[in-house]
Amino acid sequence: MHNSMPSNTPSQITTNIQNQDIFSLQSNNEGSSRFIDRAKKIFSPAASPNTQIIIERGEGSHLFDVNGKRYIDFASGIAISPIGHCHPRVVEAIKEQADTLISSVNFLWQKKKIELAEKLISIFPKSLDSVFLTNSGTEAIEGAMKLARKAKPGRPNFIAFNGGFHGRSFGALSVTASKASYRADFFPLLSQAFFVDYPYKVSVDEVFEQLDKLFETSCPASSVSAIIVECILGEGGYVIPPQDFLPRLRALCDKHEILLILDEVQSGFGRTGKWFACEHTETRPDILAFAKGIASGMPLGGFAASQELMSKLGAGSHGTTFGGNPISCAASIATIKVIEQEALMERATLLGSKIQQRLKSKFGGFFEIRGQGLMIGIEPKLKALNVKTILERAQSKGLIALSCGPNGSSIRLMPPLNIADETLNEGLNILEQIFDYEVLVAGECRKYSPDQSVEINGVKQLKYN
Ligand SMILES: Cc1ncc(COP(=O)(O)O)c(C=O)c1O
Repeated sequence: MHNSMPSNTPSQITTNIQNQDIFSLQSNNEGSSRFIDRAKKIFSPAASPNTQIIIERGEGSHLFDVNGKRYIDFASGIAISPIGHCHPRVVEAIKEQADTLISSVNFLWQKKKIELAEKLISIFPKSLDSVFLTNSGTEAIEGAMKLARKAKPGRPNFIAFNGGFHGRSFGALSVTASKASYRADFFPLLSQAFFVDYPYKVSVDEVFEQLDKLFETSCPASSVSAIIVECILGEGGYVIPPQDFLPRLRALCDKHEILLILDEVQSGFGRTGKWFACEHTETRPDILAFAKGIASGMPLGGFAASQELMSKLGAGSHGTTFGGNPISCAASIATIKVIEQEALMERATLLGSKIQQRLKSKFGGFFEIRGQGLMIGIEPKLKALNVKTILERAQSKGLIALSCGPNGSSIRLMPPLNIADETLNEGLNILEQIFDYEVLVAGECRKYSPDQSVEINGVKQLKYN
């Protein structure tokens, strides 16, 4: 696409490249515009992605748009496709189940749902042996919060974390603080939610000082039913907390008889190299919320607790029509088996550290690179390195990745756990090529000349072409 390097100043270079990218998007997506015109007429703006891409098909670690253009998927539908798109074993399980029973029939016991619940309990942290299945992560959080309220009468308050994302219904939104825009105009939310910082650019000690202060001033510990936290901050920036954070939180909860709700909606199902990220620090949740990667993209989620705790949510106190749909359950059982049988958690650990090493060795001076398994965050250290621009360029070159963090300040990589080495390599090559160029235009190399290769951070930079 960019056959020759523009021979002018960095800002002119950026403009030139942007113009070329816009042109290329338009010319590639002629077939898309009629779909987009149709979509824009009928969808709520809240459900209208700001993109020209219309996806028609997924296969493994690739997505294909309506024009047949292939994209490498480093987003996995926001961590919902741990074994890629349309895995043959998932497709087979779905087809078989569709021939058998489609409807949830939740007023009766349902075989597939029982089989899945047993499978889930076998992979959950040990203390969790009772489960409630939902349609989504948000519903899992709502259920977890309701269970906490039921189990702790007279303790209406929740504590959550700045940067945390738990969903957008009123309960889940009340404990979400990743972006003010999610909350704006929806007040009053649950007034019983209090926030402290996640250990991101503040120390764990400071976080616990904030908690102490909260208990002393505005929210006595005896008024709190649960602390809700993501084991890895997802939407809030792919932040891996220091090792002692979750165990200290567990200890604090024990001390004050507060329930600990771990939100593993994004970090669960093998993504970090363990079934659940809390296993890395052996932190025991009282309630575990899960969804996303559970069923290869079929809608399913849930929350788990000990039987004793779950018993507080008595008959009729909570419910769902579709939760635990048999097709979703069949897809989930197949997904979990593939992760187990193909040792994909080990693969996530291996690939995650390879990706981090590779990116750090070349770009560690320009980006902070962090992660656990295949949950990797990349945050520019220079203001001039713009995440949105990088991701737009990636898209136009056939790589799908997403942003996260305050004001979209980080790139998040969450490719399928079974991504083929060559596909991963191809995707990383695209990303590195863009990083190379962005680092140059960011003005780090002021003596940049289009005809010379340049050394940055001890590494010879490639030309962007
Ligand atoms: C950590 C976390 N919790 C909850 C949710 C909400 O899940 P859902 O979108 O399935 O309702 C998300 C979604 O991104 C999430 O990342």
